[in-house]
Amino acid sequence: MKLNYLLSTLAVSFGLAKASTDFFKNVKRAEIFEKTEFNMPTIRINFSEESYNRFHLTYKCLYDTHPLIDNENEDCFTAPWVNYTEVVSSLVSKQYLTTTKLSEKQKKLIGDPNLSYDNFKSIVATGSSISLKEIFSQKHTIVNIPSFEDKKASLDFTLNGETIKKDSIKFSIGGKYTQIFEKQQFNIKINKGELLGRQQLRLRSEVVDPSFLRSKIGYDLSNILGFPSVQASYALVYINDDYMGLYLLRDIYKTQWIEYNYGIANTTSLYKCDSKYGTSYYFNCVNDDTEVMDDAFKEFIKKLEKAKNTTELSKFFDVDLYIKWQAFKYIVGSWDHVTNMHNQYVFYNGKKWMNFLYDFDSDFGAYKTPNSAQSFTSESLEMSYPLYKVLGLSNTHQTLVANIKSMVFNGFNPVKLIPRIDELMEYLYPYILEDRTPENETTQRPGHLVRPDFKIENGFTIDDHLKNAEFHNYFIKKYENTKDYTIDEIYGLKRWIIERFRYICSKYSIDCSFAKEYLEGGSYVLPSKDSTKVEMEQHLGGCMNTGYSCCSNPNAYVYTTDITGNWSIEGNYWCLIVKDVKTTTTTTTTTTTTTTTTTTTTTTTTKAAETTSAADDDCWSLERGYPCCVSATKVYYTSQNGKTWSVENGDWCGIRDTPATTTTTTTTTTTTTTTTTQAEATKQPAKEPQQNHKPGKWW
Ligand SMILES: *[C@@H]1O[C@H](CO)[C@@H](O)[C@H](O)[C@H]1NC(C)=O
Ligand SMILES: *[C@@H]1O[C@H](CO)[C@@H](O)[C@H](O)[C@H]1NC(C)=O
Ligand SMILES: *[C@@H]1O[C@H](CO)[C@@H](O)[C@H](O)[C@H]1NC(C)=O
Ligand SMILES: *[C@@H]1O[C@H](CO)[C@@H](O)[C@H](O)[C@H]1NC(C)=O
Ligand SMILES: *[C@@H]1O[C@H](CO)[C@@H](O)[C@H](O)[C@H]1NC(C)=O
Ligand SMILES: *[C@@H]1O[C@H](CO)[C@@H](O)[C@H](O)[C@H]1NC(C)=O
Ligand SMILES: *[C@@H]1O[C@H](CO)[C@@H](O)[C@H](O)[C@H]1NC(C)=O
Repeated sequence: MKLNYLLSTLAVSFGLAKASTDFFKNVKRAEIFEKTEFNMPTIRINFSEESYNRFHLTYKCLYDTHPLIDNENEDCFTAPWVNYTEVVSSLVSKQYLTTTKLSEKQKKLIGDPNLSYDNFKSIVATGSSISLKEIFSQKHTIVNIPSFEDKKASLDFTLNGETIKKDSIKFSIGGKYTQIFEKQQFNIKINKGELLGRQQLRLRSEVVDPSFLRSKIGYDLSNILGFPSVQASYALVYINDDYMGLYLLRDIYKTQWIEYNYGIANTTSLYKCDSKYGTSYYFNCVNDDTEVMDDAFKEFIKKLEKAKNTTELSKFFDVDLYIKWQAFKYIVGSWDHVTNMHNQYVFYNGKKWMNFLYDFDSDFGAYKTPNSAQSFTSESLEMSYPLYKVLGLSNTHQTLVANIKSMVFNGFNPVKLIPRIDELMEYLYPYILEDRTPENETTQRPGHLVRPDFKIENGFTIDDHLKNAEFHNYFIKKYENTKDYTIDEIYGLKRWIIERFRYICSKYSIDCSFAKEYLEGGSYVLPSKDSTKVEMEQHLGGCMNTGYSCCSNPNAYVYTTDITGNWSIEGNYWCLIVKDVKTTTTTTTTTTTTTTTTTTTTTTTTKAAETTSAADDDCWSLERGYPCCVSATKVYYTSQNGKTWSVENGDWCGIRDTPATTTTTTTTTTTTTTTTTQAEATKQPAKEPQQNHKPGKWW
């Protein structure tokens, strides 16, 4: 307490004086976020020597045993997570180990729970049909490298020269899709007590966001708009003596968060959601404590399915909050918060069920094909969802439109957000500069680990921060193979806010004269989109430049077919089936970045957009933000309205009602169920278009 008091007086006398005075007016934020607003803390996570070594060995082995890298590294054979008893048992069950070849002594060792490395090696040498390197390769699922965690780390939190020590924290790796990037994300739980009002913290790398600001603006906005929501600021992070860079520091919906916000201690009614947990069009969630979809939740879904109108829904479901979130999703242009998918928690407070959203790094027009000038009805991915139908959500829904209006007045407007972005940019500049230096060798940057997958987002620079926080829209051409590509567009943050604001004001007839300088023809000049276009290209290595390896077996079972070719699965990864493996693997990965305003590039992009969107009328999935399938015909998902979906280039595509002329059909893969259990588990992709996902990341 004494220390807290000291810290807060210090903060008042130095740090906080710089912060914008009234952005959070009337908003109560947790002490940790109030104190670190425009006042950079240092978080030092301390592992024991054993743990620190295991942390680095984990990433070294994830690299060396990856199918694309395939290095022999004996340290991975003797890593602390390897249990030779289990490896041998797996070799036997997968029929790689012929036990009859073993000596009597070796046979006896097979079930020994203490099997040593030396004995294991001798068993493999005598009876295994595959080598040690193969056994440990992720082409197989014999040895699994566990995600790093340390339940007994410690943490020092330093602000204004004062340090708070937490002797016991649980540290783990955060995120899902983002785990393939160089800069990892971390989860922290204080084992006893809390740190300035929070027990659970998240450190986020913001790697997919060139501006580094989207999440912060998203959480700040949700705070000032009165949502029960996560809060955020920034922190510099060290692991032992290694500087890991700049991170977004935020909290998370957990039992403690419920207690802070609803005064309900030790709740067992908090649920985390992800479409991998079920197939409902409402919510797919498991209890956050028990990780199972319990009866209470199943009852909730049944009630949702029965409810005929808003009045009925309101009896057990917080409809007001739900509609408010839908309005929020619309203003920020969210495509990654579809109701029956992820980035969401659900909570039952004893009277009503309610939902909470988080993770805004792909909002404000980031990724896929954003369009600021779209109405709620034309933009929403959920118009055919039952909850939208029962509630009647559309451009003419009164409560929804009232919410959009009030959000425009209270937060989502350039008067509020443009100066906010400016002050954040000024504050963060030196930290982002340090975080993104050196420019060219990204693995030399703080916190960047050497990873097997090449990702262009690893290399965003300080210049990208400056440009993308303002008006520069990024167009990232991502090659799926040597010639085919998709384009991701990432709006300049200020541009998105101004353009969507203008559109909403006009579309929903809102009097936005309070921000007239930002309206069309106002004194604030928005540079043209063409003059602020940044184009990048991502070329992958691997088999035929797909970023994946070629299958070891040219006659492997075909799981899916797309424009690149036929795909199979090895271990936890997709592999491309090619008949002549030798000539197809390249290891070079090159990128080019061009900032240009020439007409030549504009033409290229227009052409590309046409190519990827097939520019035709019968492609119904375009309006849902997905292309139609070029050749895939296997149905992975059927929408309520009967439309069918398949997968191409690692993303969803809609199957045309009438096959297009270009379609080379009859490649329907018959799903014979004679495959191994491993492959069985990986065959069915999650019913969820994940951002930039590749097939290998579906489960
Ligand atoms: C970090 O942990 C190590 C081993 O537990 C210990 O020797 C060292 O003093 C700790 N350092 C800090 C800064 O807490
Ligand atoms: C290795 O696995 C076996 C079989 O599951 C188990 O009995 C044994 O305790 C494990 N050894 C270690 C060191 O965890
Ligand atoms: C297995 O190893 C453990 C710890 O190293 C030891 O306590 C135990 O006695 C060993 N068991 C056998 C059967 O050798
Ligand atoms: C919540 O759980 C903690 C730890 O089990 C316990 O100390 C505390 O008394 C509980 N609080 C309530 C209100 O039940
Ligand atoms: C909602 O549905 C219930 C049951 O079908 C019905 O009794 C009620 O009148 C409906 N309310 C409204 C406002 O339509
Ligand atoms: C990065 O590489 C490019 C092209 O190789 C070069 O022109 C540029 O000067 C390099 N930048 C830095 C900061 O080294
Ligand atoms: C894909 O597999 C089918 C048979 O399953 C074969 O006819 C076709 O030629 C293969 N395509 C490529 C590109 O290898």
